[in-house]
Amino acid sequence: MKLWLIGAYGIVSTTTAVGGAAIEKGLIDKTGLVSELPQFDGIADYVKLNFKFGGHEIRDLNGNFYSAAHMHWKKNKHYDTDILEGVKSELEKIKAEKGTALMCGTGIEEFGNIESLEEDGLSLREIVEKLESDMRKFKDNETVVINLASTEPIHKFSKEYHETIDGFETMIDEDRKEFATASMLYAYAAIKNGIPYGNFTPSVGSSLPALKELALENKVPHAGNDGKTGETLVKTTLAPMFLYRNLKIVGWMGYNILGDFDGKVLSHKDNKESKIISKDSVLEKILGYAPYSITEIEYFPSLVDNKTAFDFIHFKGFLGTKMKFYFVWDGIDAIVAAPIVIDIARFLLFAKKRGKYGVIKEMAFFFKSPMESNVINTHEQFQQLVNWYREAL
Ligand SMILES: NC(=O)c1ccc[n+]([C@@H]2O[C@H](COP(=O)([O-])OP(=O)(O)OC[C@H]3O[C@@H](n4cnc5c(N)ncnc54)[C@H](O)[C@@H]3O)[C@@H](O)[C@H]2O)c1
Repeated sequence: MKLWLIGAYGIVSTTTAVGGAAIEKGLIDKTGLVSELPQFDGIADYVKLNFKFGGHEIRDLNGNFYSAAHMHWKKNKHYDTDILEGVKSELEKIKAEKGTALMCGTGIEEFGNIESLEEDGLSLREIVEKLESDMRKFKDNETVVINLASTEPIHKFSKEYHETIDGFETMIDEDRKEFATASMLYAYAAIKNGIPYGNFTPSVGSSLPALKELALENKVPHAGNDGKTGETLVKTTLAPMFLYRNLKIVGWMGYNILGDFDGKVLSHKDNKESKIISKDSVLEKILGYAPYSITEIEYFPSLVDNKTAFDFIHFKGFLGTKMKFYFVWDGIDAIVAAPIVIDIARFLLFAKKRGKYGVIKEMAFFFKSPMESNVINTHEQFQQLVNWYREAL
């Protein structure tokens, strides 16, 4: 598997690279990988767990995957140091290429010194050509692009430039940078070059009608949006229990606190908005009605990459009696995300090898806001993934 990671030096990206290299060297077991479950027997005949990494970044471009991983490790100590040192020689050799930060909002100012292609004075066409050429140099038949960059603000949809691929090309030719966000340019570069694309973030990525059209034309599989790894995973696994027992949820409050870069970026209102929508919309889709809900995300520096979610559920039972349920999720974001990144890449490559293309909606299991799918219940999503896999095999 050759994973081209957008946001290469972030904590999810570097933890994925450490994990991938460590699996290949036999330093760790495969706990956390969905694709290793018995239901997906045979996937290794199509996609082996051998790894190469590369990607785009907008900061610390004189570093490498090891120095970036080490920086995150020093702050978080989120796994055994022997694992990191065990893959040092592999990761030290990998450097990210300079990317674009177009329309990424005020949140990324938190990183300090940003280095981007547009700051070098490149036009939209030149930016896209550089992204494409970086991906092409890395690309072979086993390559996938995964977006792991900071969450962008919600983009304003333009009928003129985002609806069709001709419109999108016109936007690039006319250098209309104000209509282009970084995530859509990376997605475009990948899909145009026949590379499967996964969007682990709530950013727009390949969700534009223009890029869906391009994916169908070029027969490229893609999937997204926003990895379902923590509070939303618990929420969409638990909410069906109330549904199955015909209990009425009258209110659900989820209060999330997190630190680290992701938390800092999400503390900016424009960047936070897309995440809240992604987290908030799941209940109505599962239950068929919208209970009163509060979803909050706040920055809490000392937690670093630990994400704590406090959820309070108020529900009504027989005889109209109201009852309460509380849970606390205390996860380490990159540790729950990294194996899912590998799974998303693996299933996308499997899809490509089995001739599946366009939005792979059966991969809804991995996402908070699955593209072109209303299946939000985790149990149903898992079954859907298994059925799809067995049929495609
Ligand atoms: N469990 C999880 O961690 C989880 C779950 C779902 C979604 N996500 C999403 O995954 C993404 C990555 O999370 P993280 O914790 O690794 O964040 P992070 O802040 O550690 O990493 C993000 C990286 O992206 C880089 N970046 C920002 N804009 C870029 C651009 N336009 N081009 C190239 N690189 C860019 C940053 O410099 C940084 O290195 C976030 O959008 C987050 O919301 C994470």
